[in-house]
Amino acid sequence: MNNKDLISIFDLEPVDIFKILTVSGELKKGKEKDSLPLKGKVVGMIFQKPSTRTRVSFEVGVYQLGGCAIFLNAQDLQLKRGESIKDTAKALSRYLDGIVIRAYAHEDVMELASYSTIPVINGLTDLLHPCQVISDVFTIMEKKNIDCSGQNISGFANIKVVYIGDGNNVANSWMNMASKLGMELVICVPEGYEPDNSILNQCVELKKETNTKISISHVPGEAVKNADVIYTDVWKSMGNKDGRKINKEDFQSFRVNSELLSGAGKDVIVMHCLPAHRGEEITDEVMDGSCSVVFDQAENRLHVQKAIMEILFK
Ligand code: CP
Ligand code: NVA
Repeated sequence: MNNKDLISIFDLEPVDIFKILTVSGELKKGKEKDSLPLKGKVVGMIFQKPSTRTRVSFEVGVYQLGGCAIFLNAQDLQLKRGESIKDTAKALSRYLDGIVIRAYAHEDVMELASYSTIPVINGLTDLLHPCQVISDVFTIMEKKNIDCSGQNISGFANIKVVYIGDGNNVANSWMNMASKLGMELVICVPEGYEPDNSILNQCVELKKETNTKISISHVPGEAVKNADVIYTDVWKSMGNKDGRKINKEDFQSFRVNSELLSGAGKDVIVMHCLPAHRGEEITDEVMDGSCSVVFDQAENRLHVQKAIMEILFK
């Protein structure tokens, strides 16, 4: 991979994404039991926001690869008392072999990466959640039997992903990913909750190369027609330091329920990055139903992040 860091899917070329997916598949089969690629390495995990899956899967992943993870609650670092990101990056680079960071402001993560001499992985910002969507693509490959061994994006050409909910960090990263892999992506949001416009414009430029179809819809019943994947996320994300107001009333017809599901493709799978607010963006019936792959999806965070760390931190 040309980039030292993984801050955005835009840091990756399709060949890099395929490499991560291939290594993830090998790790899922237990490859690291023969070699410990992070032996002797120490990874710092800076978290400004809560996390269950990202924190635990990264920490467990580091240990399984033979390294050691140090959890750094942002409240306990001198950052909290005003030390600059630049000085923090320079100091931590003298001790650690890699950093995973979950932050509010995306710019803070970019600044940390720019002053660190070690690789930095974005574990979610207000703007993006790249590790989530790489792992989601791995889940889609498994569930839809897509073969990426030839490193060819054509396997994704017939996949239609419909994201329903708020145009948030996950939706933004999905646009990045779709533009790299050439899938059809419909972002279906209430009016006023569209994803980041500059990312959308960048994706429109990129999609000319990959033949991706990215569209914005405001009509869930229309959007899900022929969907292979219905994807949802919470209506109100953590943070939103930009002061964006979320009115849950605006989302009432954007709930993923059985009726909506019945209008999708016959082999549709339902995905959710979790945590879910059951009864809001997704009903119990769908989340626990036969189309739901949400816990396989959660498991795959571990395998995919191990692959990312093996490639970046080795
Ligand atoms: N999907 C995800 O990132 O979950 P956590 O917030 O629990 O890490
Ligand atoms: N959009 C959600 C994702 C959580 C994993 C949030 O930012 O809170």
